[in-house]
Amino acid sequence: MNDSPLTPKATVVSPSNIAFIKYWGARDLERAIPENASLSMTLDRCSSRTTVEHLPNGSDREGSGHEIRWRGSSGSLVAAPPSFADRVAAHLDRLRDWAGCGGAFRVATENSFPAAAGIASSASGFSALTLAVLESLGRQESDEVRSELSRLSGSGSASRSVLGGYVEWPASSSSAPKGSAGPVSYAAQVASAEHWDLRDVITIVESGPKDVSSLDGHKRARTSPYFEKRLQDLPARLDLVRRAIAARDFEILGPEIEREAIDLHMIAMTSRPAIFYWQPPTLAVLAAVRALRADGVAAFSTLDAGANVHVICRPEDEAQVADRLRAVQGVERLILDRVGQGPRVEAEHLF
Ligand code: PMV
Repeated sequence: MNDSPLTPKATVVSPSNIAFIKYWGARDLERAIPENASLSMTLDRCSSRTTVEHLPNGSDREGSGHEIRWRGSSGSLVAAPPSFADRVAAHLDRLRDWAGCGGAFRVATENSFPAAAGIASSASGFSALTLAVLESLGRQESDEVRSELSRLSGSGSASRSVLGGYVEWPASSSSAPKGSAGPVSYAAQVASAEHWDLRDVITIVESGPKDVSSLDGHKRARTSPYFEKRLQDLPARLDLVRRAIAARDFEILGPEIEREAIDLHMIAMTSRPAIFYWQPPTLAVLAAVRALRADGVAAFSTLDAGANVHVICRPEDEAQVADRLRAVQGVERLILDRVGQGPRVEAEHLF
C-alpha cells in the first residue's frame, strides 16, 4: 500500500448491473447519449475491482503515458491488450482533461466474473475506473457527476452502476453543446436494494468473448425495421416496470422484463448485418425457465448482449431455480447474484 500524498492511490469495487429495460441504440454513440431510457438492477457479486494511482508528473512510458494492467489468465497482473487498454487510456485522458490535473495514471483491474460474456463487464469496469480516478484525485463529486463521467467512457450502462438498488437512466439529455462540462445525461436510483430483495441466477452458457460488441449493436440498432416500433412501445413498458418495482409486484415485473429481453434480441437479429447472440444452450435455458413457470415457480429470463441468461426470481425460489438450471445441457456454471448496494471504496490495493 502506498499512502504517499505525491502518488495518491485508490481502489474501488463497482458492481455490474442487469437491465430490465435495455439501452440499445444511441443518438450520440461516442458520448453514449441513448435513444431510450433504461432501468436496471445493480448486482452484488459480479463486480470489477480497480486500483488507480495518479502520477502527477506523468510516467516515463511512451504513448499515452498511462500504465494499464489486468488480471491475466495466469493469475498475475499483466499489461492489458490494446483492445482494452486503448479504451481505458482514452477514458483516462478524458477524466484528466475534465479534472485539469495533468500527469498520468497507473491502473490495475480485475473482474469477479468472465469479461465480455454478456454480464456487462464494461459497466462495472468503467464505473470502477471512473470512481477510482476521482478517489485518487481526492474529488468528492455528486452522484450525477459520477454517473455522467462514467457514461462518458462510452459504456452507457456504466452510468447506472454508480448507484445501488434499482436505477433509471433517462433518455432525455440536454441540448448542451458537445464537450459541455456539466452533467447532461445521468442515472438516478428509483428504489434501494433494501426495498426489494430480488435474485439473479446468472446462467453461464458461454464464458468466452462475444462476436459483436454492444457498441456495434448500438450502431446497427436503427437498421432494424422494428426499431421505431420499439421506441414507441418503450415508455409504456418503462412505466410498468417502474411501477412494478415501486409496488414490489413480481407478477407484473417478471413477464415484462422477459418480453423486453426478447424484444432487444429481435432488434439485434433483424439488424443489418444481423446479430445472433444466442447459442443453442441459451434456448434450452429459456425453455427451462418456461418449464419452471409451468410448474408454478415464478422465474423470468432476461439477457444482455450475450448468450448468457439472467434468471430473475424471488429469494424463496432461488434454490429451486438454480437446481433446475444447473441440470440444463450446455450450462457451464451459475453465479447466484442479487440486488446490491452499489460501489464501495476499499483500503486494500491491487498493487
Ligand atoms: O453500455 P453498453 O454500451 O455496453 O451497452 C449495454 C447494452 C445492454 O447491456 C444490452 C443493455 C443495457 O442497458 O445494459
